Amino acid sequence: MRHAGVIGDPVAHSLSPHMHNTAFEALGIDATYELWETSAADLPSRVESLRGESMLGANVTVPHKQSVMPLVDEVSDTAQQIGAVNTIIRDGSRLIGDNTDAFGFRQSIDATFPDIIRGTAVVLGAGGASRAVIVALREMGFDRIVLANRTLARAEALGAGFGVDVVPWERVVEATFPDASLLVNATSLGWHDEMPVDAEALDHLSPATLVMDLTYRETPLLRAAGDRGLGTLDGLGMLIYQGARAFELWLGRPAPVDVMRGAVVAEQSRRA
Ligand code: ATR
Repeated sequence: MRHAGVIGDPVAHSLSPHMHNTAFEALGIDATYELWETSAADLPSRVESLRGESMLGANVTVPHKQSVMPLVDEVSDTAQQIGAVNTIIRDGSRLIGDNTDAFGFRQSIDATFPDIIRGTAVVLGAGGASRAVIVALREMGFDRIVLANRTLARAEALGAGFGVDVVPWERVVEATFPDASLLVNATSLGWHDEMPVDAEALDHLSPATLVMDLTYRETPLLRAAGDRGLGTLDGLGMLIYQGARAFELWLGRPAPVDVMRGAVVAEQSRRA
């Protein structure tokens, strides 16, 4: 029996065990995906344990995505750009830190809105999630990426690091919405059913704009966008494709994406 798991604190609510265990079962792979709740003090020994022969690798989540970086033998270019590791792969006894979030973001758009206009992308929020989004948007070839965050200094630090434009939070609607072809809510507001901008602000978007929220379900923002006939996408696809990519890196074979999606959706409705 081989093992994978998620390293974080807390991890109890993770959907990843459902996604991966269902995938292992569907493909007849003798492996199990476990919840590895790990304190900061135990992180080094947890990472060391991944060198074992029976280990496939791990996912890493809050609060260890940065602190795990010096503990692995190699950090991929993408993970370095994002500044965080969300996936560890074992190659012999070497551990490679990678990040599949940008891939997940990109693939979720490519799979549903392949013809999206790659003009101006507006990103709300300047936390960890925004970093992966910006890396993905650059790879996707958007002409312009604009960042806005409640705390301006945080947006400026991120914007300077990535060379993307920053506008003050109070001005984001008038300054960017008319030109946006993609609006991404990467703040944590969707999780609490709050909106980063008023519903009426969406009237400033052109009808071809795709509105995306990284939350794993329909948020008030997405509902308001849908009501206005705009394209909408929640974060479920990003979750599934980042997991699918991790699966492929661990096992070297294609992930059963539809099976993984089914498992996540079933678990979500069980919890609702
Ligand atoms: P993550 O890793 O998910 O991005 P994070 O690093 O805690 O989480 O970032 C949360 C993001 O949501 C930040 O951009 C935060 O803005 P601040 O930098 O100003 O804190 C944003 N956010 C959280 N609550 C918010 C609120 N009430 N209004 C606007 N933005 C908010």
